[in-house]
Amino acid sequence: MKLIKYDRKKNPSTSIDFLGLKEAQKVQAFHQSFPQYELTPLAVLDNLAKELNVSKLFVKDESYRFGLNAFKALGGSYAIGQYLAKKLNINPDELTYEKLVSPEVKEQLGELTFITATDGNHGRGVAWTAKQLKQNSVVYMPKGSSEERLNHIKNLGSNASITDVNYDDTVRLAAEHAEQNNWVLVQDTAWENYEEIPKNIMQGYITMVVEAYEQLKELDEKPTHIFIQAGVGSMAAAVQGFFADVYGEERPITVVVEPDKADCIFKTAEANDGKLHYVKGDMDTIMAGLACGEPSTLGWKILNDYADAFLSCPDSIAAQGMRVLAAPIKDDVQVISGESGAVGIGAVSEMLRRSEYANLKQQLKIDSNSKILFFSTEGDTDAEHFKKVVWDGAYSVN
Ligand SMILES: Cc1ncc(COP(=O)(O)O)c(C=O)c1O
Repeated sequence: MKLIKYDRKKNPSTSIDFLGLKEAQKVQAFHQSFPQYELTPLAVLDNLAKELNVSKLFVKDESYRFGLNAFKALGGSYAIGQYLAKKLNINPDELTYEKLVSPEVKEQLGELTFITATDGNHGRGVAWTAKQLKQNSVVYMPKGSSEERLNHIKNLGSNASITDVNYDDTVRLAAEHAEQNNWVLVQDTAWENYEEIPKNIMQGYITMVVEAYEQLKELDEKPTHIFIQAGVGSMAAAVQGFFADVYGEERPITVVVEPDKADCIFKTAEANDGKLHYVKGDMDTIMAGLACGEPSTLGWKILNDYADAFLSCPDSIAAQGMRVLAAPIKDDVQVISGESGAVGIGAVSEMLRRSEYANLKQQLKIDSNSKILFFSTEGDTDAEHFKKVVWDGAYSVN
């Protein structure tokens, strides 16, 4: 594992109001109007905390989200809702599921097609939302994507396929086809002149974050650290933005975690030269949801201003996290966490158990008083691969 630490910026300039508590309550009200809405659990792993000699470990378990096994639909559904509200001239704050799926709205809108690129979870969320609205979706996945994840999307009635290019080129392909066909691009990453929908997607993610915040408050707890994984960095920035809004300077130490084969945010932080740095090629990591080589412009600005550290991890760390969460100690609850959900807990459990990482632990100020929050953003979205890791011990730490 490799770590880059940032000093806290004295006067961060990037606005995080759109990710703050006030906005979060509106976003949450929208998601609460869905019949599938349920609060996802916050696992409190006291026995594991004792084993690793920290005070508390909290894991927000997004495998329970909307029956889709990942947090991602929060973003796509909110962004599509906001887009349609504008189109229909409805006050976006009054938008509800019931209104969106009503026959009158369908008649007003006519046939629409939403298109996106995805490594699995985001596309499943967009396809799911389009299905609820009785609209069409087209979903492209990068070369090497899991057939199981593709089938989950096809089963939602989406025209989904696997391309022969990597994630970032698949995004470009989706953008081109949106333009050519007059389809609506619902992409979960931002670039110059494409920031409105990604911004709404980031806002959608804060339902997960405000839930965790409220669950912690009920326990009278505040985390000292957050480990949050990143692909393009939209989700990490939403988590970071929310906690920076709520706690200001008193916010937890936040560590952004990526696979070492797709660590574009780590590389951008390492260079620290005001430019984005990309990872090219296939990025063949088991953390499919994090296999992105180009940071979101919007996400990076927030992480650059507010995050404390960036961690680049091999696949073995994610695999370790999956096993740790799948094999709870005594009466700790089990968390089924997939490759892109478990890398944070994998990193912390390795840091706390192995002397070779003592220096990382020290740099991040982790000790017996630490209370660490994780977001397990997906369950076993590729159940066959999950078994290879958890049952057969694939990708073991040497
Ligand atoms: C399960 C899971 N976790 C985390 C992420 C990372 O989100 P982002 O690309 O916004 O950094 C993804 C992205 O697809 C994902 O699928």
